[in-house]
Amino acid sequence: MDMEKVVSLCRRRGFLFQSSEIYGGLNGFWDYGPLGVELKRNVKEAWWRDMVATHDDLGTLPGAPSPYDMVGIDCTIIMHPQVWKVSGHYDLFIDEMVDCRTEGCKGRFRVDHLAGSECPLKPSKPAGGSDKCSLTEPREFNLMFKTTLGALGGEEDTAYLRPETAQGIFVNFKNVVDSSRVRVPFGVAQQGKSFRNEITPRNFTFRSREFEQMEIEFFCHPDTSRQWYEFWRDRRMQWYKDLGLAGDRLRLRDHDPDELSHYSTGTADIEYAFPFLSEGEYGELEGIAHRGDFDLRSHMEGKLDPKTCPLTVEQGDDGKPRHRGSGRDLTYRDDLTNERFTPHVIEPSAGADRATLAFLCEAYTEDEAPDEKGKMQTRTLMRFHPRIAPIKAAVFPLVKKDGMPEVAQDLYKALKKKFPAVYDAGGAVGRRYRRQDEIGTPYCITIDGQTLQDQTVTIRDRDSLEQVRVKLDDTVAEVERRITA
Ligand code: GAP
Repeated sequence: MDMEKVVSLCRRRGFLFQSSEIYGGLNGFWDYGPLGVELKRNVKEAWWRDMVATHDDLGTLPGAPSPYDMVGIDCTIIMHPQVWKVSGHYDLFIDEMVDCRTEGCKGRFRVDHLAGSECPLKPSKPAGGSDKCSLTEPREFNLMFKTTLGALGGEEDTAYLRPETAQGIFVNFKNVVDSSRVRVPFGVAQQGKSFRNEITPRNFTFRSREFEQMEIEFFCHPDTSRQWYEFWRDRRMQWYKDLGLAGDRLRLRDHDPDELSHYSTGTADIEYAFPFLSEGEYGELEGIAHRGDFDLRSHMEGKLDPKTCPLTVEQGDDGKPRHRGSGRDLTYRDDLTNERFTPHVIEPSAGADRATLAFLCEAYTEDEAPDEKGKMQTRTLMRFHPRIAPIKAAVFPLVKKDGMPEVAQDLYKALKKKFPAVYDAGGAVGRRYRRQDEIGTPYCITIDGQTLQDQTVTIRDRDSLEQVRVKLDDTVAEVERRITA
């Protein structure tokens, strides 16, 4: 798999474009084109459907304590600034960066991108006679984007674009419990934009400054939290496999104990061997973290030991400085047992853009297939799982005469009511197949001379190239059956 070929196809066929391209682009920002938007929507819809709408099916998995509830939420991108002080992002959401001061090689990068102590920007000999670039000491850099609320624009009006969707769920915990019929254990799911001012955005959409997350905060009793952690870790891994990341490029990596946050008893990453990484390297698609009661407790009590924040730091009862919490009671009372406790949280946190990029990379395939004259040719195809393929079916009249276009148009209109479909009457039918293969359309349906005689059509399978004849009247149902199988 060659990343340059994937990137080139994405641009050529309208999956992804650089943001503001006609002005030279903006580093770390990407636009989804006509096919990309369908693909990413399908990824997000599959997640919502499987994790929220039909979540009960998961309770049947071995070892899963059931039943449990799942609901959704959609919070704002800008939240009360205190949220980020209490969550720890204000003090701790930092990267260390280094500047290169050498003439002809000026630039900035994350300290962990240092190649040993060498500048990664220009490994060749820098100008000025010296063998080495001149680098600044590492400096801390907060990744949250700042903005200003209102017209006056003082320091006290500073707000932040959310760097994760998770906090919106925590601060609404009480609202959800009080307004819906959920009982612990339950999960709250959210999809939406997050923003991080990454120092070195790179690797296509993998590390962007604006991206979308798909996060679940699952609230459970402390005694069963370990079991729920394992349940979600395995379930999330299975989700990627079910949608086509089935090979050995996908792996689940449990964090070593020394990698865990002080409040966490377990964290695992689901990782994918993206083609832009070196042999043996993997990139994170999703983290599944056991967060204990850290977040709800922080939003109740505030956060201890803030580094700098004179406006919001106050003395706690214990005399220590802290970021002020909400003071609200975020505990939960089980109405059956009367037990009151602070729920523990399991957090499966995925990136919609990274998942989409992994599906794009995994789908890219080159094989040999016969052209219309039977001659073997190299074929480029995107082997998307039918559930996430941007276009589900294409309809071709074999020739533009004898009533074939009319039959094909009627079928196309019927298909389009159910799912994205295209009609293509341009050029040799073999070329039309290739166009659809390259964008990953799983089924191509051809209306030919026989259709007019016996009311049957051919359905061609993108991957196996197998063609079967089905009744014209059954075609929509047959394609639908295959897509949802
Ligand atoms: N609430 C926990 C949290 O946000 P994270 O590991 O920082 O955890 C979760 O982010 C997921 O969001 C990552 O696994 C990744 O898929 C996605 N993500 C994070 N930063 C990203 C970036 N700069 N560009 C694209 N996706 C990103």
